[in-house]
Amino acid sequence: MKVGEKHYHTIWLNADGRSVDIIDQRWLPHEFRIVTLKTVADVAVAIRDMWVRGAPLIGVTAAYGIAIAMADDPSDRHLDAVWEELNETRPTAINLRWALDAMRQFLRPLPAEDRAEAAYRRAGEIAEEDVELNRAIGANGLKIIREIAATKKPGEPVNILTHCNAGWLATVDYGTATAPIYMATEAGIPVHVYVDETRPRNQGAQLTAWELNGHGVPHTLIVDNAGGHLMQHGAVDMVIVGTDRTTANGDVCNKIGTYLKALAASDNDVPFYVALPSPTIDWTVKDGVKEIPIEERTGDEVSFVQGRGPDGAIISVRVSPEGSPSANPAFDVTPARLITGLITERGVATASPQGLKALFPERS
Ligand code: MRU
Repeated sequence: MKVGEKHYHTIWLNADGRSVDIIDQRWLPHEFRIVTLKTVADVAVAIRDMWVRGAPLIGVTAAYGIAIAMADDPSDRHLDAVWEELNETRPTAINLRWALDAMRQFLRPLPAEDRAEAAYRRAGEIAEEDVELNRAIGANGLKIIREIAATKKPGEPVNILTHCNAGWLATVDYGTATAPIYMATEAGIPVHVYVDETRPRNQGAQLTAWELNGHGVPHTLIVDNAGGHLMQHGAVDMVIVGTDRTTANGDVCNKIGTYLKALAASDNDVPFYVALPSPTIDWTVKDGVKEIPIEERTGDEVSFVQGRGPDGAIISVRVSPEGSPSANPAFDVTPARLITGLITERGVATASPQGLKALFPERS
């Protein structure tokens, strides 16, 4: 997508053919910084400390991490060690393990001397595939927005609420939840987006609002607690969120607070959609609440807020008393029964084993 007049992906191979450049998302929306990841340790830090974040982008970054590892030492032992090292960086987003598995299965049968070049090629393909998956999600989600615009909001904007950042910054391009929004805008369908700020790290306020601003999509930033009130008053026509892991039964794990939005949507008959590429489906897990590991991040993310100070510097300020402990579960699980539909690259599935199997019969 665009930053100013220039088109960017969130990740790309550096001109040296070995390192990887990323947009360092810690500084947005205040500063646009690109950094180069040269080593596996750089890649691990970038994922763990959320220089890159969002399930699909985490996966692509890890794939490039394997490529860097193969350029260092293409042995099986090193491949396995780096698989373990990167897999531990963030526990919830399944795209991480999906990409690591895809890379290892592809590289294992190859002779060691061919692995580095093949790994960079495969990582690049995984990145391009992500763009295509999101484009297809966008086209499928656009049909839903078009339908709501025609039947419920003729001549008026369709109001869409989203949580966290499932935008182009969370993927290689387009985003998952935002792809239908960008496509609707391109198609001339008026939309307006309510952006949940998404405490504690404020991915909505810092990233989604920045993206939508950059593409001229009308939007309003709201506090996380405003969604229920807006839905009660008919201000929200649909919700679209992303996901870090969706189970074979259609339960959706996503950024903390998603579940509360789904409850409010259900109580107010607001359609609640989840946009996801198939690498986000964990076919080995059935019950999301019981089986998905929820990342517990540092309480400092709750006790402090980052922003731009009066002198222009990016600063962190404490919002709670010294000594008050804080807890920080980073994700929650929305049960399938609260979800209207799963917007995938192959179409829209009901959030159920039958719905997912109908779209992905090879998984039956
Ligand atoms: O902790 P984050 O910022 O990595 O969490 C991201 C989300 O929860 C996104 O909504 C999710 O990864 C879907 S992104 C297409």
